Amino acid sequence: MFNSLIAFIIAIVISAVAWLMHTLHLSETHVKTNTSDEEGKYYAAVKDASATPTGTSETHQVHFDLVDPECAPEAKLYMIMYGYQIMEETAKHCPENVGNALSCNNCHFNAGNTLGGSNRGISLVGVTEVYPRFSSRDNKMISLNDRLDNCFKRSLNGVPLPEDSIERDALVSYFKWISHEVASLGKYPWLGLKFLDSKHEGDIANGEKVYHKHCSLCHGENGEGSERPSATSIPPLWGNQSFNDGAGMNRLDMASSFIFYNMPLGQPTLTEEEAIDVAAFVVAQPRPHFNPNR
Ligand code: HEC
Ligand code: HEC
Repeated sequence: MFNSLIAFIIAIVISAVAWLMHTLHLSETHVKTNTSDEEGKYYAAVKDASATPTGTSETHQVHFDLVDPECAPEAKLYMIMYGYQIMEETAKHCPENVGNALSCNNCHFNAGNTLGGSNRGISLVGVTEVYPRFSSRDNKMISLNDRLDNCFKRSLNGVPLPEDSIERDALVSYFKWISHEVASLGKYPWLGLKFLDSKHEGDIANGEKVYHKHCSLCHGENGEGSERPSATSIPPLWGNQSFNDGAGMNRLDMASSFIFYNMPLGQPTLTEEEAIDVAAFVVAQPRPHFNPNR
């Protein structure tokens, strides 16, 4: 009885110290940059005024890992892995909801479990922390679920998942898991495509040349990608199996940025101007029309 009381008190003291350290470490965080060291650990430079006795702010680094979905705790593992698989092969798991040959992963590389930047597609790490938020496209506050519906309706030219479906829960569980290491940072600078500085106006004719020089080998002479969609296939860029004209990727600013940082796959070597030209060419091609009533 006495021993267990001592153990209880020790446990409380340890939790209090851990909590205090955590609070001191992460309060007033301001993420400036993020990068990774040789061991693949990521860190963000953080300004932390509370940690210095003088009260002056000091920049130090908070380390965090990109978390592997397979390392999720047993009780949540099934849902998190199912969410991951939906990202990778969307139509296979949600055949009723996908209206083209794309998977989420085609734009959100590695199922969004990256920190964006060159070659890493559009990050979704921390996405559970930034919603609900204002959407200029919808002109109102939207939830993470609304945002998911948008990618299904626009990027995948399909229909939203039913509200209480296991697939929707699985995706949200997966996003929560990949976001949990960074959840207390307060800012997630790797989210969202970074628009290019160049004010160059897209030249469709030059874009067509860039396309045939740098893209058609993979995406096809007619933007069709490879024929059968699978986890390893190449996604179409236009035509009836591609994203529709309401998708973010159909906007010149977003497509130029995505292409500049990520394409040609693994070797993004275009200049900003070439990326803008080829994006102008791609968004000028025929594709399905967005149907807002679906
Ligand atoms: C080596 C093959 C290869 C080349 C070359 C290549 N891509 Fe891609 N591209 C891919 C693959 C594969 C994906 C999907 C990546 C994934 O799922 O991880 C992709 C994805 C895309 C996407 C997003 C998905 C979609 O279908 O809309 C766009 C846009 C895109 N590429 C444009 C281009 C442009 C423009 C060029 C030329 C500058 C280019 N790509 C060159 C292989 C390539
Ligand atoms: C054709 C490319 C493409 C495909 C396929 C795609 N997305 Fe997206 N997604 C985007 C773009 C572009 C954005 C907007 C990025 C920005 O705000 O800069 C985005 C944003 C998001 C966001 C919000 C991210 C943020 O920072 O606010 C979520 C969540 C998301 N997508 C989930 C999905 C899911 C789930 C799927 C599959 C069902 C999917 N996306 C398929 C292109 C795509």
